[in-house]
Amino acid sequence: MSPASLLTLGILICFSATSQCQDLNSFLKKHIVQDNDSIVCDEIIKARNIILNNNCKSKNTFIHDTDGHRVKAMCANITKSTKVASDIPFNLTDCILKSESLPPPNCAYNQKNEKGKIYITCENHYPVHFDKFLLSGFGVSWTPAILMVVIPILPSLFL
Ligand SMILES: *[C@@H]1O[C@H](CO)[C@@H](O)[C@H](O)[C@H]1NC(C)=O
Ligand SMILES: *[C@@H]1O[C@H](CO)[C@@H](O)[C@H](O)[C@H]1NC(C)=O
Ligand SMILES: *[C@@H]1O[C@H](CO)[C@@H](O)[C@H](O)[C@H]1NC(C)=O
Repeated sequence: MSPASLLTLGILICFSATSQCQDLNSFLKKHIVQDNDSIVCDEIIKARNIILNNNCKSKNTFIHDTDGHRVKAMCANITKSTKVASDIPFNLTDCILKSESLPPPNCAYNQKNEKGKIYITCENHYPVHFDKFLLSGFGVSWTPAILMVVIPILPSLFL
């Protein structure tokens, strides 16, 4: 990805070639989008060239956090490599590879809007790795699961 296209995305904030800088920029590229961006997984993953060993990544989570300011604040006081969880939930877009996806650059994803606490690894005051997220509360994402339990029960109530 060229520096120009990274700048267009508004996420390149670290210009030196140190490995710490590369880790941060790689984290921002893979995981940070603007607060209220409605992104399309297939498009953004292709545009940002997010792949793993020349294969499509099986999963990639985007955190809606303009310029990563809240995520970076989580790491502000941390020097040694440490896993941290957010106090607050973030809006997330979770991208999960479709089994019938074509190879890169045409990776095809299912996507889901989620809200949850994020777990990241901080190093030298910056986020460098996204570990996972945990859904917060009873989100919209639970509704289909509840319906799948309730719907089979309904007919038996009327017999
Ligand atoms: C998260 O998304 C909801 C609606 O989709 C919006 O109202 C809210 O402001 C967003 N929160 C943040 C922190 O961006
Ligand atoms: C997105 O957020 C920006 C700044 O927070 C705001 O000015 C803009 O109106 C928002 N757009 C939408 C579609 O909510
Ligand atoms: C980092 O340290 C400053 C000053 O000690 C403090 O005000 C701030 O709350 C700390 N931030 C976090 C995320 O712990």
